Amino acid sequence: MKKVLITGATSGIGEALCLYYQAIGYDVIACGRKPDKLAQLESYNNVSTIAVDLCDQQQVTEKMQQLGSLDLVILNAGSCEYMDDVKHFDGQLFARVINSNVIAMGYCLAALLPQIPAGGQLALVGSSASYLPFSRAQAYGASKAAVAYLARSLALDLKSQHIDVSLVSPGFVKTPLTDKNDFAMPMQISAQEAAKRIVTGLQKRTFDIHFPKRFTLILKTLSLLPDSWWRLISTRILQK
Ligand SMILES: NC(=O)c1ccc[n+]([C@@H]2O[C@H](COP(=O)([O-])OP(=O)(O)OC[C@H]3O[C@@H](n4cnc5c(N)ncnc54)[C@H](OP(=O)(O)O)[C@@H]3O)[C@@H](O)[C@H]2O)c1
Repeated sequence: MKKVLITGATSGIGEALCLYYQAIGYDVIACGRKPDKLAQLESYNNVSTIAVDLCDQQQVTEKMQQLGSLDLVILNAGSCEYMDDVKHFDGQLFARVINSNVIAMGYCLAALLPQIPAGGQLALVGSSASYLPFSRAQAYGASKAAVAYLARSLALDLKSQHIDVSLVSPGFVKTPLTDKNDFAMPMQISAQEAAKRIVTGLQKRTFDIHFPKRFTLILKTLSLLPDSWWRLISTRILQK
């Protein structure tokens, strides 16, 4: 039985991934903080859970470093907060988002990479928000740009270890994270649909897993334009 570890499995995309992998016969290790949700996940066959705050390196090391061989590790946990008044830059907010989306990922990599054997896979969940700068997204966008770089760089060095790395860059997915948003979210898909796209991409060992394509390809195309063009376009969008 193949073993997958998923962080952020107590909600949204991570939970959908957990249930998808459980349903197709994987041994799933689900990580998160919410005790009630972890207990609920434990009730499924072949799902075990780890209660851990990923921003606490000691906890991550203690709870994750001796799990044995992991065929697939999906580092999906993350948070999103927007900056309302950038002139009064909120350093605490910035630190919170960078900690949960980037620094915590580093703690997980330190504990988990030694347990991924040759032939194994590692997936980092970034965001299509990293393709272009968006208003109020200074913290979230910067954190996801860091995740994208981290994935690209890891892919180079882990190739010789025969570990395939994937970068997952979703568009808008309906989850508790996006339920808080007060703006239009075009082409939003369900967490179940997102999980299906991620599993399919990982089965093909694709590096760049992005969806929904009609949304992410528009962003990718716009990102090829000079920065000044995007500033003009986004200013027009904001004025509407
Ligand atoms: N939804 C979207 O539209 C979208 C788009 C692009 C990228 N993403 C990315 O996809 C990933 C999952 O997002 P989602 O929408 O599914 O969000 P979500 O429903 O809010 O779930 C976030 C998950 O991360 C866990 N988590 C956060 N901080 C943690 C910490 N310090 N320690 C342990 N667990 C922590 C949460 O666990 P607990 O609640 O148990 O603490 C929860 O399980 C994130 O990295 C997000 O940035 C989402």
